[in-house]
Amino acid sequence: MSRFWSPVVHTLSPYVPGEQPKQDGIIKLNTNENPYPPSPHALTAIAAASERLRLYPDPRASALRETIAAHYGVASDEVFVGNGSDEVLAHTFQALLKHDAPLLFPDITYSFYPVYCRLYGIAFTEVPLDAAMNVQLADYRRPCSAVILPNPNAPTGTALARTEIESLLTDHPDQLVVIDEAYVDFGAESALPLVARHDNLLVIQTLSKSRALAGLRVGFAIGQRPLIEALERVKDSFNSYPLDSLAIAGAVAAIKDDAWFAETRHRIMKDRAALVRALSELGFEVLPSEANFVFARHPSHRGASLAAELRARGVLVRHFQKPRIEDFLRITVGTAEQCGRLVTLLRELV
Ligand SMILES: Cc1ncc(COP(=O)(O)O)c(C=O)c1O
Repeated sequence: MSRFWSPVVHTLSPYVPGEQPKQDGIIKLNTNENPYPPSPHALTAIAAASERLRLYPDPRASALRETIAAHYGVASDEVFVGNGSDEVLAHTFQALLKHDAPLLFPDITYSFYPVYCRLYGIAFTEVPLDAAMNVQLADYRRPCSAVILPNPNAPTGTALARTEIESLLTDHPDQLVVIDEAYVDFGAESALPLVARHDNLLVIQTLSKSRALAGLRVGFAIGQRPLIEALERVKDSFNSYPLDSLAIAGAVAAIKDDAWFAETRHRIMKDRAALVRALSELGFEVLPSEANFVFARHPSHRGASLAAELRARGVLVRHFQKPRIEDFLRITVGTAEQCGRLVTLLRELV
């Protein structure tokens, strides 16, 4: 604390990211990274772009926006890119989600949402997930300024169908609905086909998970032009160059590599099914996951102690000390070998 702090700083409770250990040999199943290296084309493109580091990057990141637009069948001025989807989300909260009525999101969801609300002074209401940890759309039929949902939800991994997202959009014709699709490529239905007919939909995605580029920091939003213009106005009042030349080049090549993408995500979905089976055989309750992680609890073991025991044996998983989910572990789907090691350790512990 210091007398030099602006008043808002005293009120902040910042997001705490998952641990990034310094030592080698740890199996990291705690931050939903992809266990495989990114597309080799992305690495080649990054190396080539390093020759242009003397120059500022394109402030509009046009090559990347055009690549994303072509890939998803939208116009490039319906695409916004940022330094990870966290930055895209931050600009969305500031540009589009600050109104008089409260913003709605689930009580169990991405824990950055309330952090942005406090940073920007946004009123919010947390809507409880039902007893099975699912989003119930009827619970969102209440006065609000906007809704934001991850789909699949994090940390639960459960997903809504596209028809359900469309019902949410028609329930809220005058409110923005933001769908955070950080994990959508692992089996859920994207809301992107709804963008053309719903001016109240903004979809946000990331290259951190399904493209294995968490370290490059690239995320994007797709929505109708007026929404994108709001994001651009905030971005250009904050940082002209959020994406560096390496990120732009690597992201373009990664998005174009359909073969790498198809193979890697199918492998992760297959390994997820095997992990769910193995955990269930050990007596865990595992929520149905359409993400690259599973959310599981054991009826006779506390989540905190299982996470600590695993950590002591070199395997990191994520545990949240939060009501309703304190006995769950969020486990990233690693390689088959990493998941095998986890299951072997859990067999000794439960
Ligand atoms: C639901 C959700 N949204 C967004 C993000 C942010 O991802 P990134 O900033 O790496 O794009 C995460 C990261 O874990 C997430 O879980």
